[in-house]
Amino acid sequence: MTEASHPIRFLHRGAVVAVDADAPTRTVLEWLREDARCTGTKEGCAEGDCGACTVVVGELDERGGLALKPVNACIRFLPTLAGKALWTVEDLAAMGGGALHPVQQALVDNHGSQCGFCTPGFVMSLWACYERHPEGAPSRQQLADDLSGNLCRCTGYRPILDAGQRMFESPRVALDRAPVLRALRELSSAPAPSQAGAYHAPRTLAELAALRLARPEARLLAGGTDVGLWVTKQMRDLGELIHLGDVAELRRVRIEDDAIVIGAAATLEQAWAALTAEWPALREVWLRFASLPVREAGTMGGNVANGSPIGDSAPVLIALGATLRLRRGDALRRVALDDFYTGYMKNRLEPGEFVEAIEVPRAAAAQRLAAYKISKRHDSDISAVLGAFAIELDGARIAAVRLAWGGLAATVQRAAAAEAALLGRDWDEAALQAAQQALAADFKPLTDVRASAAYRLRVARNLLRRYWLETRPVDPLPPRALSVWALEEVR
Ligand SMILES: Cc1cc2nc3c(=O)[nH]c(=O)nc-3n(C[C@H](O)[C@H](O)[C@H](O)COP(=O)(O)OP(=O)(O)OC[C@H]3O[C@@H](n4cnc5c(N)ncnc54)[C@H](O)[C@@H]3O)c2cc1C
Ligand code: FES
Ligand code: FES
Repeated sequence: MTEASHPIRFLHRGAVVAVDADAPTRTVLEWLREDARCTGTKEGCAEGDCGACTVVVGELDERGGLALKPVNACIRFLPTLAGKALWTVEDLAAMGGGALHPVQQALVDNHGSQCGFCTPGFVMSLWACYERHPEGAPSRQQLADDLSGNLCRCTGYRPILDAGQRMFESPRVALDRAPVLRALRELSSAPAPSQAGAYHAPRTLAELAALRLARPEARLLAGGTDVGLWVTKQMRDLGELIHLGDVAELRRVRIEDDAIVIGAAATLEQAWAALTAEWPALREVWLRFASLPVREAGTMGGNVANGSPIGDSAPVLIALGATLRLRRGDALRRVALDDFYTGYMKNRLEPGEFVEAIEVPRAAAAQRLAAYKISKRHDSDISAVLGAFAIELDGARIAAVRLAWGGLAATVQRAAAAEAALLGRDWDEAALQAAQQALAADFKPLTDVRASAAYRLRVARNLLRRYWLETRPVDPLPPRALSVWALEEVR
């Protein structure tokens, strides 16, 4: 462990810049606009919701290639850029040799900008998409998913989506990756940024474990998509920070024979991609979790540790029977996720301990999994209710059942009475109705800005009915009968 201070070094506009890490909660957006005088990037909401501040961050991937990620500069703390490359809207025209980049030109040609406030953010999300698809335009739905973090109050989106498709029709202007990769490799051997008593960015699990033990009061920082808002919205002083994002062991998702092991600092995008590959029924919850820029920064470890009762990962992971691997120094223990929460935003972590990984047992052949998210907006919105259900049938009989809910109680939790009403019975309408009734014994939901108590309970019961319609042994309804995504695909 070192108390020496080292600056934050990252690649910006073709050169390595070094900035002191003495104000670790200063955001990338503040640095861009106030210090670098790159004012093309705008501030709208300062909470990751509108996308006006979208920039693209480049980093080395596991195979040594370049991964480009759109992220929200307004909630991203500057020190977390160390060892990475940053692109903003100012960089794009330069790539086109003075002419507009095809992304920008397509927005002009298709009338994708009116007041223009959202435009730099859209340009950067579109550019990340452009670079990720050297083969040509993705589907319109894929494009819409990639733009899920960008709001526009003027255009109505059609012209922006048109631009997103047409930008692939101009002669290609690809990023020259070789010099970027060279610079990132050099940066990876520079000392990690640190500021005694303020900021630490360990690179190995052992360093992290020792730091955490020595500084149990320090705040862990993963993707900062919760923590960032404590600064930008609540003006909180976070004290000393330990950043997890550079610990290679924590950033991996491993597919083992009997489990998917999600490192606590793996991004939400990585984690949901792995879960959805195993359980395709999770696709809708994946794509409706926040937005692409939030998922490219935030982690599933942070989502679970934060422990919001309306967090989307926990119900799904509990339905899947996930276990947390918790580390304190060299000591490792496992806690079932459905036993982890002890009250509103409270959990069983001991001082000096942290979440190392989430272990998700792989699918039993007979397990039928579904997860349904109810929120006011389709994209980029927090859930009012999220139900995740896993039933194992032996013929028509329910041999095992896990029903997990977010939004119905002070913590994400299983519905013990509803599960008891189902276990051992045939999965028929009488069993469904018994479980629906039992939900009233399991939960006394609150009324808040997202939904009333009565609505929450009613929607919870209705989601169970939908699940039954999809999974009943007799005459199950096909997904296209019930899924909005299926409708999109038909269109
Ligand atoms: C615009 C927007 C939309 C959002 N939409 C959704 C949504 O649809 N669904 C949803 O569930 N959430 C949503 N969120 C919340 C947030 O994105 C998630 O909770 C995210 O997973 C948090 O992860 P993070 O890595 O950013 O955590 P951070 O903000 O870095 O940390 C969150 C908390 O977890 C602690 N922590 C982090 N890692 C560990 C660890 N390994 N061990 C112990 N403690 C740890 C931190 O100290 C902190 O207390 C949204 C946020 C924004 C800004
Ligand atoms: S300013 Fe709205 S997402 Fe950053
Ligand atoms: S052009 Fe005005 S907000 Fe998008």
